[in-house]
Order: sequence, then C-alpha cells, then structure tokens
Amino acid sequence: MICIPITSGTNKEAIRAIERSCRFADFIELRMDLIGGGNLSQLISAARDKSVSIKIIVTCRKKEEAAPAPAANRVESAAGKIIDKKITLFKEAIELGADFIDIELAEGRMAIRELKSFCAKYGGKTGVIVSYHNLKETPALTKLKEIFHKCAQSKPDVIKIVTLAKTFEDNLTTLSLIPYAQKHSQKIISLCMGDKGRISRAVAPLMGNYLSFATLSREGQSAPGQFTVREMKQINELFKSKWTAPLAPVLSLRKSLPQNYILLGNPVRQSLSPLMHNAALKKMGIEGHYNAFCVNDLAGAMQGIKGMNIRGASVTIPFKVAVMEYMDDIDEDALKIGAINTIINNNGRLRGCNTDWLGLILTLKKAMPVKNKTFVIIGAGGTARAAAYGIMKEGGFPIIVNRTLEKGKILSGILNCPFYSLSEVGRIKADCLINTTSVGMYPRQDKSPVKIPALAGYKYVMDVIYNPLTTKLLADAEKQGCHIFSGLDMFVNQGAEQFRLWTGKEPPRSLMKKVILERLTQIE
Ligand code: ATR
Repeated sequence: MICIPITSGTNKEAIRAIERSCRFADFIELRMDLIGGGNLSQLISAARDKSVSIKIIVTCRKKEEAAPAPAANRVESAAGKIIDKKITLFKEAIELGADFIDIELAEGRMAIRELKSFCAKYGGKTGVIVSYHNLKETPALTKLKEIFHKCAQSKPDVIKIVTLAKTFEDNLTTLSLIPYAQKHSQKIISLCMGDKGRISRAVAPLMGNYLSFATLSREGQSAPGQFTVREMKQINELFKSKWTAPLAPVLSLRKSLPQNYILLGNPVRQSLSPLMHNAALKKMGIEGHYNAFCVNDLAGAMQGIKGMNIRGASVTIPFKVAVMEYMDDIDEDALKIGAINTIINNNGRLRGCNTDWLGLILTLKKAMPVKNKTFVIIGAGGTARAAAYGIMKEGGFPIIVNRTLEKGKILSGILNCPFYSLSEVGRIKADCLINTTSVGMYPRQDKSPVKIPALAGYKYVMDVIYNPLTTKLLADAEKQGCHIFSGLDMFVNQGAEQFRLWTGKEPPRSLMKKVILERLTQIE
C-alpha cells in the first residue's frame, strides 16, 4: 500500500496536493508540522470528498524526532496537567475520524496511553502508529529490537521504525525488524532513509511492510531517498505477480526473492543506466529492479551486494579500478584493461568484468573497419584503456594523446603504442579520433578537447559522451567533413552486454536505445 505524505507549505496548497494524491495513493499522511496554518478539518474533508477509500494518517513531527517536544509546544491546563499542543491536535484528528494518528515514541508512554484511551472513547476507529526515527544512523539490531519492544508496550496498531542508512548493511539491520514484528504478530513499517537506504524502500513491501511512502514528485520528498509514486508502483508491479506480503524472514529468502541490480558510483544522479536497465528488465519479464547508489564507502557497498540479493552491479566513476580488490574472480578482458564496469554476484562470489571495450568495439565496427586502421585516443583513464584494448584486439592501432604527460606515457608504455601530448594532436595522421575524456559533457557542452583545424585530417570522429548527443567536438568534426558518431551506441552496447552477463538473456538493444534517446531529446 502506498502512502503519499502531504508536506505542502500552505493549507490551500495542501488541499490541492491531497486532491491529486487521492488518485494515486491508498493512504495520505498529513504532515501538520510542515503544512503552514493547516486546518485539519478542511484537509480531512478534502480527502474524504475526493475518495471514499483513502486512509488518512495525521502526523506532527518535531525537527529532531529523538528529542522531547519543545517547551513552547506545551501548555499548562487549569488543573495543572501538562497538555501538549500535539495531543490536542491528535485528539482533534480522532474526533474528525482520521484513520491513524502517528505519535513518536519520544513523546512518552503517558501521552501515548492518553491518546489510545481517547481513541477507544471515540469507538476505536482511529488506529495509533507509534514511531521511532533516527536521522543520524542505524543503531545495532539489539538496540532496534529494544526500541521495537518499547513501542510495543503501548500496544499500538502499527509500529514505525525508520533509520538513516550509512552503509548498505544498515538496510539488512532495519529490514530484519519486519520478520521480527511478524513473529510478534505486530504490524510494522520499517525502512531506511538516505541514498544508501533506497534499496530498503524497494524490498520492504515484499517482506510485508505495512506501508510504502512515496511522493508525487521528486521535489515533494518528506524523507531522503523516497521514490516517486510512479517508481514505487513500477517496483510493486514487477514483484506483484509472485510475491505477496507477508513473507518469511528476509535472510532466509535471499535466494528466492527477485534479484536486483545496482549502479555504484559517485555521483550517480545524472545516470541514465536505471532507465535503460529497468526498461530492459520489464520488457524481458524479469523480476527485479535496477537502482543507482551514490557510494562513499566502497567496502560497505561490496558487503551490501553480497547481503542484499543483488545479482549484478554496474560500476562507474570513480570506482572502476578501486573495485578490483573486492572481486573473487576477474575475467581476462577486465584484468588486461585494469578496470571493471560490471560485477556479477554468483551466490556471494563476486566476478568482475568489463563491457566498456565491447560496447566501443561493437559501435566502431558498425561505423567503420577497425583492422589495420589507426585511432587517436584522447585520454589515459579507464575508458581510454578499454578503447585501446578493444582496438588492438580487433587488429587496429591505438595512439594515446593525453593532457598529463606522465599518465599518457605510462599507458602508451603498457600498450606499446605511440604517445603525444594534447597540444600535438594536430600533427598526428590517423583514420579515427576518439574522445574518452569528459570534456564537452553536459552541462559544459560548449567545450571541446580538440581545436577545429586539428580535426581536418580525420575520416571518422567519435565521442564517448552521449549527453549531449552531438558534442561540440562532433559538431566541429562534421563541419570538417568527418563521419561522426556519438557515445550513445557505446553506452547502450556496454549496458546490453551487462544485461546479458547478469541474466543470460539476449538484451532488447533497440528498446534500450529508444528509452535513452527519448530521455535525451526531452533534456535537449
Ligand atoms: P575514465 O575512467 O572515465 O576514463 P578517468 O580515469 O578520470 O575517467 O580519466 C579521464 C581522462 O580524461 C584523463 O586522461 C584526463 O586527463 P589527465 O590524465 O590529464 O587528468 C582526461 N581529462 C579530464 N578532463 C580533461 C580536460 N579538461 N582536458 C583534457 N583532458 C581531460
């Protein structure tokens, strides 16, 4: 079941958001702490008018969930009893027939008890969610179980435990509360926040989590890492046919759950790999989802892959070399190139491969003959190495050109091929020029690694950049009469080869290209 938090600034905006959310969600959560001047009665009526089946949660959080409510929020009654403004708000919600109120464990047992008995007085139609949020970290499992039991003491209808994932293993810790709660016949919402916690949001519904939080749009996130409703529905749809909640404990399910796929890099926000791979998985009817993860701790990410039923990972900048030390096996091509862009997880054994070279060669061979041709490769990083390796394997001759002399010389020494500095590029005679640097990539598309006159002697010019589709280098080269080709096909081909390695199936290459092209033309 999907719940959309309503976080809009004003009462009027919140009503608009409620009306839209009722079309997509099973639940809405009224975040009264975020809706400025929120009129609870009007907000609940707006939801009821729009949908008879929508369930309403009323929440009022503090900025720092773990701290006690600020003194300003507390008012002294005539009898001298402390009445929290929040308690008054929750009582109003109960009177108005909200389906749930969500009160934090930190508000104290007395407050929770008071509200439970108030619910009973109003016929028990409103359920109580007792929640714990840790915005700083994921405590150890023993600590989380203690928190679970503290929440359970007041016999709530649902317990909510949400923590910040700092490592991939944190997801395992927090998710293991779901089967634990099931053993105690307790409904639970348990997941991790943050970029590293996104995988828990995808997996938790499969395990029987009571609710999944999702937003109408990226801007409306009420917690870091939330998926949009569209993404959440896609994920649920993928699993729906076979997997219904509640399921057995995740740890014993690892082998039989649908397998997932990830991209590891930093940054990953702009990556189009999730779009491409998810389209391919869907088309081929393969259960599983592909997510991008921004990684700070590579060792933790490697543990996460083993522990979280991840079948395959793409590896991007800056981890293509660093990831090698975590592999149990490395295939011959990746070993020779000295970089990995693909990981296959065979039941906890990680195999590193490289499909960049193949992606480039498949693209080159479609456009021109490679055997006995000469190729100027600009750059001396991982992509340049993969390009040179592929070209040599096909009988072509690479020439390395790089800004930093030492780096270029080292690579040309390894490959036993000529090297020139970038300023000398105009002096070289070759059949094809390939840019493997990021110069000219969005958002700095006005840049080119090569001055226009230096392009005149080339019949073919390729850029590994695919955003924009026509880089300045390619536009300049076309004006010089060169045949040009962008990095789009290379990107699709390297992804398609990854897909083949992970799934053993023929990748739907034209669909993969189509979705990327559509997105790129939208961006342009
Ligand atoms: P990748 O693994 O994608 O190839 P990389 O290992 O960071 O990425 O390598 C990037 C290459 O692009 C490097 O050779 C880099 O040149 P230096 O060795 O001089 O650093 C090259 N590069 C990056 N920015 C550049 C720029 N503005 N001008 C010229 N070359 C650049």
